[in-house]
Amino acid sequence: MIALAGRTVLLTGASGGIGAALCDALVGTGARVVAVGRNETRLQQLARRHDAGRVVPLVADLADDDGLAHVVSTVSRFERTPSVLVLAHAQSAFGMFEDQAMTELRALVDTNLLAPMALIHGLMPMLKQHPQAAVVAVGSTFGSLAFPGFSAYSATKFGLRGLMEGLSREYADGGLRFQYLSPRATRTAFNTPAVTAMNREMKVTEDAPGDVAEQLVAAIASGRQRLQLGWPEKLFARLNGALPGLVDRTLKSQLAIVRRHARAA
Ligand SMILES: NC(=O)c1ccc[n+]([C@@H]2O[C@H](COP(=O)([O-])OP(=O)(O)OC[C@H]3O[C@@H](n4cnc5c(N)ncnc54)[C@H](OP(=O)(O)O)[C@@H]3O)[C@@H](O)[C@H]2O)c1
Repeated sequence: MIALAGRTVLLTGASGGIGAALCDALVGTGARVVAVGRNETRLQQLARRHDAGRVVPLVADLADDDGLAHVVSTVSRFERTPSVLVLAHAQSAFGMFEDQAMTELRALVDTNLLAPMALIHGLMPMLKQHPQAAVVAVGSTFGSLAFPGFSAYSATKFGLRGLMEGLSREYADGGLRFQYLSPRATRTAFNTPAVTAMNREMKVTEDAPGDVAEQLVAAIASGRQRLQLGWPEKLFARLNGALPGLVDRTLKSQLAIVRRHARAA
């Protein structure tokens, strides 16, 4: 268990659907949240929902070296530096791979994979000052089961899962823990109307962001290393690891649906 009360939590993606709900839930545990995002208005609104000083907005573009440096240098000047880093930002990219531009793919990798690496790297000296610290990556079902129409996005989430797994093994004998926690589909602006329409047709359940945030905060406090939310996603993620051919056949039968929605996206 890791007590969150009194800690400073650096939360990326705080202006997003899951991130804002996570921010509220983290403040509910007694933590102070440094809320990172690009949308200043939404960060200010988030801060106004809580007592003064509990949410500290920090505007930064994490796909940009200057934005990453700004985050690290700002929190390094705090009296109470972060002992928990929650990576809840990401870009989505639904579409057939051959239709996606290289500039879009590069931005996807910069945001979803290189930014977490850079933040973990930059914050490591601060995190290691605390006897107990945690880095939490918000992953995805698609980080364990690559989905057609989400090939590049899945690649970034597979990469993130690998990073967290490697780091948790690299630091297994200390007080710094690495957690990879995956929501399933969640009702936020992350999913474009085309994704929502596909999910409906494929009967994919979409969770409410508040419910997801509650489960994520419970998992952060419990210190569990890995978590996949939802049935049957939990089962499918495991099946894909053990019997990928079975999942190939199931998804092949649904490929026409994916292509139709991806081309409409
Ligand atoms: N929604 C789902 O169905 C779902 C399912 C599984 C996993 N997830 C994961 O859950 C996490 C949160 O997703 P969500 O649904 O809350 O998405 P969301 O509502 O679209 O929010 C995305 C967040 O990421 C931030 N962001 C994106 N690019 C950024 C950049 N270059 N620099 C700084 N911040 C950036 C956005 O900031 P601004 O808005 O301020 O630009 C926003 O706060 C993501 O890691 C996502 O992969 C989502």
